Parts: sequence; C-alpha cells; structure tokens
Amino acid sequence: MKIDLILGLQWGDEGKGKIVDVLTDDYDIIARFQGGPNAGHTLEFDGIKHVLHTIPSGIFHNNKLNIIGNGVVIDPVILKTEIEKLYELDVDLTEKLMISRKAHLILPTHRLIDKASELSKGKKKIGSTLKGIGPTYMDKTGRNGLRIGDLELDGWNEKLNNLINKHLNLIKNFNVDFDFDINQLTNEFLESLDFMKKIKFIDSEHFLNKSIHEGKRVLGEGAQGSLLDIDFGTYPYVTSSNTTSAGACTGLGIAPNKINKVFGIFKAYTTRVGSGPFPTELFDSIGERIAKIGNEFGATTGRPRRCGWLDLVSLKHSITVNGVTDLIMMKGDVLSGINKIKVCTKYNYNGNAVDYLPFSIEEENIDPIYEEIDGWEEDITQAKSYNDLPLNFKNYVEFLEDKLNLKIKIVSVGPDRTQTIFV
Ligand code: GDP
Ligand code: IMO
Ligand code: MG
Repeated sequence: MKIDLILGLQWGDEGKGKIVDVLTDDYDIIARFQGGPNAGHTLEFDGIKHVLHTIPSGIFHNNKLNIIGNGVVIDPVILKTEIEKLYELDVDLTEKLMISRKAHLILPTHRLIDKASELSKGKKKIGSTLKGIGPTYMDKTGRNGLRIGDLELDGWNEKLNNLINKHLNLIKNFNVDFDFDINQLTNEFLESLDFMKKIKFIDSEHFLNKSIHEGKRVLGEGAQGSLLDIDFGTYPYVTSSNTTSAGACTGLGIAPNKINKVFGIFKAYTTRVGSGPFPTELFDSIGERIAKIGNEFGATTGRPRRCGWLDLVSLKHSITVNGVTDLIMMKGDVLSGINKIKVCTKYNYNGNAVDYLPFSIEEENIDPIYEEIDGWEEDITQAKSYNDLPLNFKNYVEFLEDKLNLKIKIVSVGPDRTQTIFV
C-alpha cells in the first residue's frame, strides 16, 4: 500500500478542501503535511459551508482518522476555535484527530514578528496572512522552535519564556510601531495549549508508516499551492514551506517510493491573494466578473483574490516538480457565459517565446502569449455527468489535456460536495 497526495498547482485556494472531502470515502487516513492556519480549506455539504485552517478536510466523515503532520505549524489559539466550531456541530474529535509530536508551535510573538516584518517592508510586503507562518518556520530551521512533544517534557515553560523574550527583542529591532498586550496574548496561548491537550499527540511518522504497511489507505493533504513553494514558487512572494510533493515526504515522514498518485488541483482560471508577480492577471470587466461569480475572497483573511486567465506555463512547471499523475479542474462553472476564453500557453521572455517558468516572472520581463478557445453559455452547476456538459466545455478540457499531456480525472462545477463530476 502507498499514499496518494492532493496538492494545489497554482497560488493556493484551488479547492483542495472540497476535493479532499469528496475523496475521503476512498481512504482511511487523511494527513495534512505542511503549512498552518494561513490555509483556509472550504467544504460544503447539506447547505452548510465549513472552513478549516489546521484540521484535515476529512474530518466530517465517520470512521476516518485525520492527522496533523510534523510538517504543519500549529497555532493553538486558532486550533481551539476550529475545534470548538466542530464541537458545536457535534463532530467528536477525540477518536478521529491526532497531532504529530514533531509539529512546531506558532507562538503569539511569531504572529507579531510577521506583522513587524511586513510593516517594515512597506510596499514590498509579501502580503502574508500574518498568522506567524514565516517566523515559525524560521525558528524551526534555526533550531529554536518549540514542538508539540515539548509540552510533555519538563522545562517547557522556561523554553517558552526564553523564546518569547528573544522575540520581543527582535520585534524592537524592526523599528515599527504597533500596540500589543503580551500578557493577554500569552495567557490566551497557555489556555489554548491546555485545551489542545485533549487531542491525542502521536509519533506520526511511525504511525503513518505502520498504517501504510498494514494496508491502510492514506491521503496526504497539501496547503497553499506550488507557486507559493519556498523553493519553486515566485520567491520571495511565497510561503515558508515546501508545498510540493517533496513536502509530503518531509512533512509526514513518508519515503518517495511510498507515493502513489499525485492529484494536482487547479482552477479553470487563476487567482492569487497577496503580493507578487501574476503574468495573466486581468484588470478588466472579465477579471471583475470572475471575481464576482467565483466569489473570490480569501477564506482566511477575506481579502479579494486577484483573478486572471489560466497559465499553462506555470501549470506545467507545477506538474513537473510535483510529479502529478491526475489532474482535477475546479470552478469551470465560473467561466460560463464568457464568449472567448484565453489560455496562456507561452511567455514572451525578454523577446523569446518560452514554455518554462524562468527565474523571474516579474511584469517587466514577461508577456503572456495566449491562445483563444470558444466559451460556453450554459449554466453547468446542475450537471451530473460528463455527458451533461456542453461541447465547448469538453473542448476546453481536451485542449488543456492535450497541452498538459495529462488526463483531467475530475471536474468540479460548484462548491458543494455533490457538484463533482468524475470524467
Ligand atoms: P483551498 O484552500 O484549496 O481548499 O480552496 P478555498 O476553500 O480557499 O477556495 C476555494 C473556493 O471555491 C471555496 O469558496 C469553495 O467553496 C469554492 N469552490 C470549490 N470548488 C468550486 C467549484 O467547482 N465551483 C465554484 N463556483 N466554487 C467552488
Ligand atoms: P490555502 O491552503 C492562498 C499566501 C499569502 C501571501 C503568501 C505568504 O487556503 O490554499 P504567509 O501567510 O504564508 O506568510 O503568506 O502566501 N498564502 C495563501 N494564498 N491560499 C493559501 O492557503 C495561502 N497561504 C498563504 O496570501 O501571499
Ligand atoms: Mg484556501
């Protein structure tokens, strides 16, 4: 038995939450492998919309285990709110949620450093979700971090106080001014840690490998998207983890030869929230239309998402670095009624047509080269099978398959669980 992965191929928000929820029926264990509460994974069923930030998107199914892997960074304050929301819905987590002892903790001061860093950058800010992600991964790689497993050891409080003091000094050095109440933040953090202890802590790499060996079916859930990957994304406008399939190996302790399918998810167009280059971004009425019909507002911060045409150059890059085996296309319904749909198939890069992602895709170096495809008028949100879909929609799918040399196995035509078509 092996593990399958689901990960985003663009700048996040591709619809990972929805698809993980839909595919959970086929698995025993869902395991998040990186990122933290910068993620907002939305799923909808029975007319209710749920947004998860840290908890894997298999949590609404019975008899399935959900593991927060070692590669994830956890803010106990946010996790507590997430858990309480689930309790209100009578979702019992004691048997189905587990946390890796090796996952790192986001301290309130990590959030403050994030804010200080962004303020100090001015116009060059990353557009971070300000959840403390970057500073927490910096402490992890700098070998100063605190882990879930530390909570079970003596001397924990002293380690915490030392790290907080170090952070407070660091914040002073940014020379930016904002108010915070460190005592209140620390108390809230400690209370949430106590609350979090209700959830089982495990040696997740051992547990997962044993489960795979015993024949359990495991699905790894990614956060963010490949273009936000710390190595292969649009650096420095990225997040601080490896969002690509390699991140599942380090974020769960799974060897590369244990990876089976890699489901790559993309929207039928492109969105980005936060700063950074976006070659196919639209600034016209079509961009506004996509934003409005697609309800393109961040699930974590509520910020409007920038919208643009699908970019096959970056998509191919993501497919390659992840080893994608199966494609999943989301939100095709949002393009209904657009007469001519454009797809970027190459970049004009310093005067040459290229079909790979060069070192810099800043506006001054890149001009997208488009091909145009006829759109479809029909509302497709009620379609139940691939045959129900309009010819021009299928032409769009086939055009993409041809260019990407991969099959699109699922098309999603609306936010609800049921609006999912297996091709
Ligand atoms: P994630 O971070 O990858 O899980 O994606 P988000 O939840 O942040 O953003 C995806 C948004 O699109 C959510 O509001 C979903 O409810 C919604 N969504 C997902 N699939 C579809 C679809 O096929 N059509 C439409 N119209 N909305 C979708
Ligand atoms: P999901 O899992 C979309 C973006 C932020 C910012 C950059 C760095 O829901 O797809 P960070 O908070 O990591 O310091 O932000 O990355 N970003 C996301 N954009 N979806 C996400 O997650 C994101 N997580 C981070 O907007 O540009
Ligand atoms: Mg999201």
